[in-house]
Amino acid sequence: MPRGLFITLEGLDGSGKTTQIRRLAAWLKTRFPSEASDETILTRQPGGTETGDRIRTLVLDSRSTGLDPMTEMALMFADRAQAIAEVIQPALDAGKIVLCDRFTDSTEAYQGGGRKLGSEIVLALHRLLCRNLQPDLTLLLLPSLEASLDRARRRNQRTADQNGPDESRFEAEQDAFYRRVWEKYREIARRDPTRVVLIEGELSIDEVHQQITTAVAARLIAASEKS
Ligand code: TYD
Repeated sequence: MPRGLFITLEGLDGSGKTTQIRRLAAWLKTRFPSEASDETILTRQPGGTETGDRIRTLVLDSRSTGLDPMTEMALMFADRAQAIAEVIQPALDAGKIVLCDRFTDSTEAYQGGGRKLGSEIVLALHRLLCRNLQPDLTLLLLPSLEASLDRARRRNQRTADQNGPDESRFEAEQDAFYRRVWEKYREIARRDPTRVVLIEGELSIDEVHQQITTAVAARLIAASEKS
């Protein structure tokens, strides 16, 4: 059985990843029905498993005060190790397409960059705890820093206004934090241009979708030619 295809979406808070991942899943169903009907798994991090949802509550809840950056990073990896074991690896082994909203690039950008822990420790933990599982394709939604900060702020306001589970711990961060996250994402894209497709500029939802589907179609065609 050929290994499936592992696609991750990355970007700052409010970058529109969730909308795009849903549209991508719908597009796969219509354009590549043989690969995608019942064969596409949609998941997110943190979360995506029962244990992961409990970790998500712990790590995103604004009442989790005084969480040390190392603890935060360890929780992100605990969530990820469980998601790989329970959801991602079995799906890939079964030849499925896995669409994952955030993966280790988020830890490198937010904990490595934002929290200043650096890339090295994140990549070392990824090798140890995730057996270095790499996405086949990463779609990085990264408008200019100014636009990204603006969107993150608007998103923060929306989160603050809405009721429901409090997931605002990261949204309370300041511009300087998000600037470091943004810069680390750019560094990742420069380091790994084969895996990471950078979608930048002020684009409409449709334009972003178009770029995403072009990149995904190219990978699917390349994968089918290999098998
Ligand atoms: P979520 O509500 O999923 O945000 P988004 O829709 O923007 O993806 O919250 C995830 C938050 O967790 C987000 O602020 C980024 C942060 N995060 C990390 O700091 N490190 C990580 O490894 C992951 C996966 C997420």
